Amino acid sequence: MTAGELLGRAVARLRIIRGIDPFLEARVLLRRTAGFTDLEIFAFSDRPVTATAARRFSRAVEERRGRVPLAYILREKEFWSIPMTVSPAVLIPRPETELLVERALALTGTAEPLIIEIGTGSGCLAVALAKELPGARIIATDISRRALRVAEANAARHGTGNIRFVGGDLFGALRGLGLEGRADLIVSNPPYVTDGEWKRLTRDVREHEPRRALVSGPTGLEMIRRLAVGGPRFLKPGGALLLEFGAGQTAAVRGLFGSPWARRETAKDLSGRPRVLAAFL
Ligand SMILES: C[S@@+](CC[C@H](N)C(=O)[O-])C[C@H]1O[C@@H](n2cnc3c(N)ncnc32)[C@H](O)[C@@H]1O
Repeated sequence: MTAGELLGRAVARLRIIRGIDPFLEARVLLRRTAGFTDLEIFAFSDRPVTATAARRFSRAVEERRGRVPLAYILREKEFWSIPMTVSPAVLIPRPETELLVERALALTGTAEPLIIEIGTGSGCLAVALAKELPGARIIATDISRRALRVAEANAARHGTGNIRFVGGDLFGALRGLGLEGRADLIVSNPPYVTDGEWKRLTRDVREHEPRRALVSGPTGLEMIRRLAVGGPRFLKPGGALLLEFGAGQTAAVRGLFGSPWARRETAKDLSGRPRVLAAFL
């Protein structure tokens, strides 16, 4: 079979998935599984594909038809222009989370800040910050051991020697590390989806991404409340906690950061919605 024929069949198979560009996704899969470049796909679409590559491609297309997210099939997702290895043990990094990196870079004044990340998942935030701030010391935590293994692999892949990964429940992971009162910045993209919202997410997310990475509980604010309560213990005076929250949660999230927090700021995403809160001690 030729590349063009394979592509045509794949597009027909992927059309049932609402909200995607089947042609784009089929092309990405063909590139990855058969080693074609875009130029080869377009200019030499009558080129025959080996039986092995065609089988690999068809398997990938069927996985996608079963709503496995493209990033899990490719085992990779770009974040902050850095290719991150992903597996179903971790949330697929979202472009909107790059706002956290932007804000973190704007806030880290010292040349060698101490940064704590809570809920590192693939390690995308920690790795992006480690690359941007080679003088920083970063402690990244997660409750999921499987996620931490992916994060460690990403740190090794990108040669970031300044991240230490520790497992445990929120700030409990930091017990015994002597970090109390020492962090310049705590950064987190915590789970903030409600149990009810989870049921309405797309099949791609519900059936394949880790529920624990997304769902916080009945209100969606449970994890953020715990961050607001536990964060001050680890920050220096004047230090900040920076977190992502859901569209529509602004007032509720701000309300969680009363005393001892001194000041709060929100930052908006590209579509103008507040999505990141910085709270200062
Ligand atoms: C929304 S994901 C964020 C992952 C990654 N930082 C990102 O932005 O793509 C939340 C992460 O928090 C972790 N997590 C959930 N509950 C936790 C808890 N109680 N303590 C520590 N980590 C937790 C999940 O395993 C998941 O990796």
